[in-house]
Amino acid sequence: MRKIIIYTLLCLSFTYQQTNAINTSKRESDSPINRTERMAWWTHDRFGLFIHWGLYAMPARHEWVKRREKMSDEHYNRYKDYFNPDLYNPKEWARIAKAAGIKYMVFTTKHHDGFCMWDSKYTDYKITNTPYKKDILKPLVNAFRNEGIRIGFYYSLLDWHHPDFTIDRNHPQMPQNPQTLKELNKNRDMAKYREYMKNQLTELLTEFGQIDELFMDYTYAEGENGKTSKDWDAEGIIKLVRKLQPQIIINNRLGLSSNSQGWDYITPEQFMPQQWPTINNQRVPWETCQTFSGSWGYNRDESNWKSVHQLIVMLAETVSKGGNLLLNVGPTARGVFDERAIERLNGLAHWMRFHGNAIYGCTVAPTEYSCPNNCILTYNPTTKRLYIHVLEWPFKSLYLKRYKGKIKYAQLLNDHSELKFRTETKKGSHTTENTGVDDVIITLPVERPNVEVPVIELILE
Ligand code: GLC
Repeated sequence: MRKIIIYTLLCLSFTYQQTNAINTSKRESDSPINRTERMAWWTHDRFGLFIHWGLYAMPARHEWVKRREKMSDEHYNRYKDYFNPDLYNPKEWARIAKAAGIKYMVFTTKHHDGFCMWDSKYTDYKITNTPYKKDILKPLVNAFRNEGIRIGFYYSLLDWHHPDFTIDRNHPQMPQNPQTLKELNKNRDMAKYREYMKNQLTELLTEFGQIDELFMDYTYAEGENGKTSKDWDAEGIIKLVRKLQPQIIINNRLGLSSNSQGWDYITPEQFMPQQWPTINNQRVPWETCQTFSGSWGYNRDESNWKSVHQLIVMLAETVSKGGNLLLNVGPTARGVFDERAIERLNGLAHWMRFHGNAIYGCTVAPTEYSCPNNCILTYNPTTKRLYIHVLEWPFKSLYLKRYKGKIKYAQLLNDHSELKFRTETKKGSHTTENTGVDDVIITLPVERPNVEVPVIELILE
């Protein structure tokens, strides 16, 4: 019985969210399993962990280091010859992620450098040919699954190692003089590379069980010497992927338009959209991917790390605009999360333990609820609860404009302690302010609750 009620509530919640999101019949017919069903878990879960891990953890100065420093294959291969993450223990990663409230993870199976973190039979350029010798991916997938975390794969469309991938403006071997490109590319055959990608995607989507999200990266069509969706045979890839994993959800970086079957969600990267992003005036599902400090791969010397407070605000703000947060960690070449990342994730864990209800299953609040100063609102349409994330703790009173008659009960989320509220109808005196007759004043303790961002839970009428 309990299961049936929870299922019904989930469906109702998702139906509500979809009335806010793009929902044309065209998109509904995208795949054998309809889109609403496919995305229900994702829209509910809201919080994922991106993991960027590969050879670039060794130079430890950005995952684009091969391109940035224009390294030859031979030079970059030193990392392959020495890569040996002796402390790699995916169970530990999964435990940390689970505690932080993470519900799904997306792992870089192959990044732009072309190096594969699984034992692919289509290349020698892979983890089993390093001093480490063992596969990384299967133990990772198993460990996260065992913690109840869903699995996503990142796969780079760019490949700076494959001999058939044509040199272009993003490639480490891009010459000074673009005129010489033709000559350089004359023996490279993108048709073979397309085949290679399809073979690898087939491996990834058949040998690791159910894969919930696929993050393809990326199409750079603008200007000269880029690549378009045709270079990848993006449509062919989509067809293959949907055939192998009909329930999977796919990001929008294959370069296909919004009306085709080309994607399920968009991916604003390293910025906070001002509001729920739209395409043709329709709200679309979105997931913002964000780093702790700027680079995606482990970067030893980067110093602009976001604080725990900033990360919590980022998560709440994303959900308040109807989106998901994919927060990235770049493990070290020894195979551990470095202490700065662990400190952030532990901070998130502490907050999420008490405030997960203000994130999971939540979305943008209906417009009838005004947002008080220095606050963020999230709303759970299933439970009809409104969450006020209070970024700056005010003195004694929180004024809620036009909330009269809308609130049944109010409490702090971290300890479920009651918060009294009243509607001021009388004129102010020397101890009370003159307030609007439709407003509600919540009485707050003078001392801010000892949590990074306190949240007030309103049970609505
Ligand atoms: C960009 C970068 C890449 C990173 C990705 C994450 O496309 O090229 O390094 O993996 O964003 O979204």
